[in-house]
Amino acid sequence: MFSKQLLDAMNEQMKNEFLSAQLYLAMSGYFEAEDLPGIASWMRVQALEELTHGEKFFNFICEAGGRTDFRAIEAPQNDYDSPLDCFEYSLKHENFVTTGIHNLMDLARKDNNHATQIFLQWFVTEQVEEEAAFGLIVKKLQRIGDDGNGLLRFDEDLGQRVFVAPTAGA
Ligand code: FEO
Repeated sequence: MFSKQLLDAMNEQMKNEFLSAQLYLAMSGYFEAEDLPGIASWMRVQALEELTHGEKFFNFICEAGGRTDFRAIEAPQNDYDSPLDCFEYSLKHENFVTTGIHNLMDLARKDNNHATQIFLQWFVTEQVEEEAAFGLIVKKLQRIGDDGNGLLRFDEDLGQRVFVAPTAGA
């Protein structure tokens, strides 16, 4: 049911979701090294979420009769100039992921592939939330600036995030 072009793009997006997991885990390592355990934990939760995104693509490709095609994941960036630099990088990465999802939706529309359009709808909404979350953190870090105590309080705040496994179909 997938056209060759759509299946190739679905597999590429699956790769990018798993790449995102590795990138955010690498960022978690950066924050651990910077003695900011709360932000490190936030990034680990983000990495777990990305694994579920990759798995969603895997499951859908299989269920819809496509063939999964795993690709090499390039090494993520490990070091950053500052927490703000790291989150600015993350926001750009999420913009990249959003572009991929929108391009996939365009392809699915062109193919009249209704099931894939419905599957992708969840990701369209999810990307709005992801960009908003990363964008808000960038703004907060800009306001914190060189305020070390402010950064420590923010670290505690972000450390409150917990991973919530998605429910079936969500
Ligand atoms: Fe699944 Fe943050 O993109």
